[in-house]
Amino acid sequence: MKALILSGGKGTRLRPLTYTGAKQLVPVANKPILWYGIESIVKAGITDIGIIISPETGDEVKSKTGDGSLFGAKITYILQDQPAGLAHAVKIAQDFLGNSPFIMYLGDNLIEDSLKQFLDVFLSENLDSLILLKTVPNPSAFGVAKVAENGKILELIEKPKEPPSNLALVGVYFFTNIIHQAIDRIKPSPRGELEITDAIQYLITQQQNVQAKQLTGWWLDTGKKDDLLDANCIILDSYLLSENQGKINGKTKITGRVSIGKNSQLINCTLRGPIIIGENCHLEDCFIGAYTSIGNNVTLKDIDIDHSVILEGSTIVNINQRIVDSLIGQRAKISLAPKHPHALRFLIGDDSQIELM
Ligand code: DAU
Repeated sequence: MKALILSGGKGTRLRPLTYTGAKQLVPVANKPILWYGIESIVKAGITDIGIIISPETGDEVKSKTGDGSLFGAKITYILQDQPAGLAHAVKIAQDFLGNSPFIMYLGDNLIEDSLKQFLDVFLSENLDSLILLKTVPNPSAFGVAKVAENGKILELIEKPKEPPSNLALVGVYFFTNIIHQAIDRIKPSPRGELEITDAIQYLITQQQNVQAKQLTGWWLDTGKKDDLLDANCIILDSYLLSENQGKINGKTKITGRVSIGKNSQLINCTLRGPIIIGENCHLEDCFIGAYTSIGNNVTLKDIDIDHSVILEGSTIVNINQRIVDSLIGQRAKISLAPKHPHALRFLIGDDSQIELM
């Protein structure tokens, strides 16, 4: 059994962060989204992992993630020239996959359920494909399954305008090598991509043994800002442990679970966990509210922030209003000029969003 993780694509919905970096490397609770997928695949006992990368962000994915030794796995990187679809990614990975059955895992998806239970079903029932479903309020944004009363999958449709159900296809799939024949038979969709949904539909039409299971735990597709903030909350809620490797002065008050990384310093701050703070951060005279993740090398002075994600190297100083529900990119600087407290001066990247409330 092998695994194929898709970490190419364009990441347009997380711009501007993804102009400079891969969306799969955006951190959730200070760990790249992609790494959660790798860890859960390794936990299911699969260590031979291929990762699809794009020409734009592939080097960054490779240099951060490495050869797999960090995870007890062997990683092979496979370059996809352009984001021509999920089934196209499988096609170009054929040398790596050979005749092996495999798990395909979309690198921006996070699921709570363990993969092992699904892998066991896939193998023990000799399925050609096992897909995972989850009810969602907005099925038109996903691949959607039409399922008969007896649980049989009747049809799969990619991003339907009029969804036949609210059962979305989760970005984790199990396949035998028969999927390669199906991919050879399908044509690009109206959005110009070779869709894995169409390839699975082909298997269904050919009466191959395709089954679906519904997830019982949470599923997060971290494509957009609010999805990412939700993912941050859920991961902090589920996994964060209190830990202090930094320095805290006597006037700092901490309640709830808070993790503080090496060489980070907290002076006169109030923290209400769950909160994660990376390494080499300087926090002074701040209130940090629940569900906030602060990356390495961040400086925060005189601010009040809640339910937000601040990436590596950012500085936020002297803001006299609460910052909420925010995603702040790497090395961003936000400050209030003491001489002109009511004037606003910006240097903002393309596609940035600022809401003054
Ligand atoms: O998240 C679940 C959904 O993922 C499913 O419900 C849909 O059926 C499935 O088509 C897919 O839809 P998305 O539109 O969300 O896929 P996206 O373009 O975001 O790509 C998913 C991941 O695969 C992402 O990490 C980027 C990567 N990718 C994507 C394409 C199109 C590649 O590596 N190569 C590609 O060519």
